[in-house]
Amino acid sequence: MASLTIRKLDEGIKTYLRLRSARNRRSVEEEVRVILGELIEGREEPLTPFAAPPAASSTPMPQRSGALPEASVTLIIGGGIAAYKSLDLIRRLKERRIEVRCVLTKAAQQFVTPLAVSALSHERVYTDLFDPQSEFDAGHIRLARECDLIVVAPATADLMAKMANGHADDLASAILLATNRKVLLAPAMNPLMWNNAATRRNVTQLQRDGVMLIGPNSGEMAEAGEAGVGRMSEAIEIAAATERLLRPPVPRPLAGKRVLITAGPTHEPIDPVRYIANRSSGKQGFAIAAAAQAAGAEVILVSGPVDLSDPQGVMVKHVESARQMLEQVQAALPADIAIFAAAVADWRVANEGEQKLKKSSAGMPPLQLVENPDILATIAKLTDQRPPLVIGFAAETEHLIDNAKSKLARKGCDWIVANDVSPATGVMGGDRNTVHLISRKNGAENGEITVDSWPVMTKEQVAIELVAHIAKSVTGKSRESAS
Ligand code: C5P
Repeated sequence: MASLTIRKLDEGIKTYLRLRSARNRRSVEEEVRVILGELIEGREEPLTPFAAPPAASSTPMPQRSGALPEASVTLIIGGGIAAYKSLDLIRRLKERRIEVRCVLTKAAQQFVTPLAVSALSHERVYTDLFDPQSEFDAGHIRLARECDLIVVAPATADLMAKMANGHADDLASAILLATNRKVLLAPAMNPLMWNNAATRRNVTQLQRDGVMLIGPNSGEMAEAGEAGVGRMSEAIEIAAATERLLRPPVPRPLAGKRVLITAGPTHEPIDPVRYIANRSSGKQGFAIAAAAQAAGAEVILVSGPVDLSDPQGVMVKHVESARQMLEQVQAALPADIAIFAAAVADWRVANEGEQKLKKSSAGMPPLQLVENPDILATIAKLTDQRPPLVIGFAAETEHLIDNAKSKLARKGCDWIVANDVSPATGVMGGDRNTVHLISRKNGAENGEITVDSWPVMTKEQVAIELVAHIAKSVTGKSRESAS
C-alpha cells in the first residue's frame, strides 16, 4: 500500500484539510480518513473550502440564509491609523470561514475606504445610522444581533468612552448598545491616551460589563519617536481570539489514549449457511466507540455482524466468530483501555459442516458444542500487555448485581457494566439501557466492591457517562506507565 505524506500535498489542499479538520475538530489525518470513507460511500462534501462570496450590493441588507458559513461577525472599524490592519483582519477571518459584515465610523473612513472594505468582505459596508436603505428595517438592530460576535478593531479611546457610557448617536455606538452578543475590543491609541485616567475608568467599566479585550500591545507608535502600550494587536492575533470565542476548543480528556472496544453478537457457523447467533444489536458498543472518539481517543472497534454504520473516525474491524474477534483484539494491543461490550457466544459447533447439512431419515444431526475462548478473561489475565483499565459487561436476566460481582472476580477485570436484559426491559436491540457500574474500591485486588446504579438513559447517554468515568479514572495512567 502506498503511504501519503500530508506535508507534501499542494498548499491549497493542505489549507482545505486544515480548515475542514478544524471545523470538524479532528486531526488532519483523521479528516483524510473520513474524506476517503465519504468518497467511497459517495457522500463527500464539495471540495471547495469557502462558500462562494455573495456579490457586493447596494440593496438593503440581505437576509441570512441556511447556506452561509457557520460563524459570523459584525466588525466595527473605528477611526485610527490601525484601521489599515482591519483590512488584513477581514481576510484572516474569511480564511477561517467566518462571515464578516463591516461597519465604518465616520472617522474610520478617513483611514480606509468603504470600497476597499466591501471588496475584501464581499458584503456591502454600513456607515450611517440614518441610511434609508438599511434602516427601513432597523438595520442597526440586525447588525447588532444577526451575528455571533461583535469585534471592534481598532477600538479607539472615543469609541470605548461612548460604549462605557451607553451613547448611541452613530451607527457603531448604536449597534454596541443594542447588541445581545459578546463583544471583543482591540484597542488602539497613543500610550498617553491609553494610560489616561478617563480611559482607565472606561476600560474597567467595560470589563465589568463583560466586554472582552485583546491587546493593546506595546511598541512603536505611528507618531514619530513615540512608543509604549497602545498598538493594536496584529490581525492574526485578533482573528485567533475571535475564533477561540466562536469555536471554543472541545475538551478531549482521552487524547493520546488508545481504546479497544468489542461490540455486537458473534455468529458461530454450523455449516456454510447456518450459524448460532444472539439478539445483540451492537448499539451500546458502537455508542461507546463514538463517545470515546469524541473524547479524543484513538478507537479500535472489533465488531461482530451488526446492522450499523461504522462510527466516524473509528477504526472498525469486522468479524464473524468469537475466535476471529479474539484474534483481532489481540492484534490491536497494546491499549490503554479495553471495553468488552460484545455478546460473545459461549459455545461454538465443534463439528462445523463443510457442506450444508442435509435432512435424512437418520433424524437430526447431533450438534456438538465446545466452549469459545473468553476474550475478556483472556485479556484481563494477561501478564504482558494487559490494558491498565479492563471493563466487561454483564448482561443478566436474574440476580443482576450478584452475578455481576462474581463475574468481576472470575474474569479478572476492573469494572463491570451490568445490565438487565430480560425481554421485558427491551434492552436487547432497544435504544435505552439501565446500568450499574460495579468496580473494586480504589482498584484493590480483594477490596470492597462498589455499585453505582445509573438511571434509565439512552445508550448514547450511557456511553457518554461511561467515557466520563473512564476519563476521570485514567487521567495520568497510560499503557507505558502500566508496563
Ligand atoms: O460470561 P458472560 O458472557 O456473561 O460475560 C460477559 C462479558 O464477557 C462481556 O463483557 C463479554 O463481552 C465478555 N465475553 C467475552 N468472551 C466470551 C464471553 C463473554 O469477551 N467468550
